[in-house]
Amino acid sequence: MRFHALPTSCLALLFGSLSQAQPTANGDNYNSSSINSIFGGSKGGTGPAQAKITCPTGDGVGLIAVRGSTEDPGPGRLLAPVATNITNQMPGTTLVSVDYPARLVPNYVGSEREGVEALTALMRQYTTACPGAPMALMGYSQGAQVIADVLSNATAPVDNPAQPLSTNDIAAVLLFGDPSRVDGESFNAGSANGDGLFARPDSKALEALGDRLLSICNDGDPVCDRGINITVHLSYDETNGAEGSEFVVNRSMKAVAAKKGKTAASPLEANGKRATAWTA
Ligand SMILES: *[C@@H]1O[C@H](CO)[C@@H](O)[C@H](O)[C@H]1NC(C)=O
Ligand SMILES: *[C@@H]1O[C@H](CO)[C@@H](O)[C@H](O)[C@H]1NC(C)=O
Ligand SMILES: *[C@@H]1O[C@H](CO)[C@@H](O)[C@H](O)[C@H]1NC(C)=O
Ligand SMILES: *[C@@H]1O[C@H](CO)[C@@H](O)[C@H](O)[C@H]1NC(C)=O
Ligand SMILES: *[C@@H]1O[C@H](CO)[C@@H](O)[C@H](O)[C@H]1NC(C)=O
Repeated sequence: MRFHALPTSCLALLFGSLSQAQPTANGDNYNSSSINSIFGGSKGGTGPAQAKITCPTGDGVGLIAVRGSTEDPGPGRLLAPVATNITNQMPGTTLVSVDYPARLVPNYVGSEREGVEALTALMRQYTTACPGAPMALMGYSQGAQVIADVLSNATAPVDNPAQPLSTNDIAAVLLFGDPSRVDGESFNAGSANGDGLFARPDSKALEALGDRLLSICNDGDPVCDRGINITVHLSYDETNGAEGSEFVVNRSMKAVAAKKGKTAASPLEANGKRATAWTA
């Protein structure tokens, strides 16, 4: 079977930077493990790895990046320049990337699930290592879904329902091309007007983040808008990178300032209202 004749090739085109993952193999003998390596996936199933956390210093923010399907480990092709822009504007900022397969085929669902577990663990690790330090989450494509799923389950996270993951230290959440997008949400941005491929059933927890969340999706994106123009999905760094980095910088600076001037009366704001639970 040739690459372009893979049964999943259409799906593949929908989920990430194919230009970064040209097949080097040829012939008829693709199996799941070789497809996996073509798509940049790593082995899964061993549980979340412990990431090395470096806490932000000064007026910086702790960036956490979750890359899209098939992107190389690290922040990924699309998020890397956004992270650089943020770091340039906020010295003291640190970046950690979620270690997960970011696999498209086989078993996207399993990969995404591993991402959810890895991000949940990383956020716990982060709040323990850097108490009160503001964090900003950025995700692209599968990585955006990972973030949205973790935050949707924030009151009863997958790994420990008895100890809910706190969103208090989250200064900003930036999503590009989220497959779980639902049209009409208050935190949506971009020109899209459809649902994503895996539209989430319930957005209440995301709505509760108020103006700390921005989900960008443009018209025609096959992943977040069920459109037919893959270029739209692959171009958020060019089309909306500046908007995204400005958003993260804006909200993160606000969180840093709130933390610095923090007495009991300087909480983060959410949805234009004072949040009741800013506990640094
Ligand atoms: C699958 O592909 C990998 C990588 O090319 C190879 O090492 C492995 O032997 C293959 N497995 C089977 C069952 O063909
Ligand atoms: C919440 O977590 C459960 C597993 O504990 C999962 O099945 C469900 O899909 C998650 N819901 C959302 C909205 O992410
Ligand atoms: C697909 O999207 C790109 C990027 O927005 C745009 O330049 C191009 O014209 C679009 N193609 C079609 C056929 O609409
Ligand atoms: C980075 O910042 C520059 C200057 O504001 C802007 O032109 C560019 O679009 C930004 N790129 C990304 C990916 O954020
Ligand atoms: C953030 O943006 C708002 C307008 O949307 C502006 O009033 C505020 O000054 C900005 N804050 C920072 C720290 O850039």
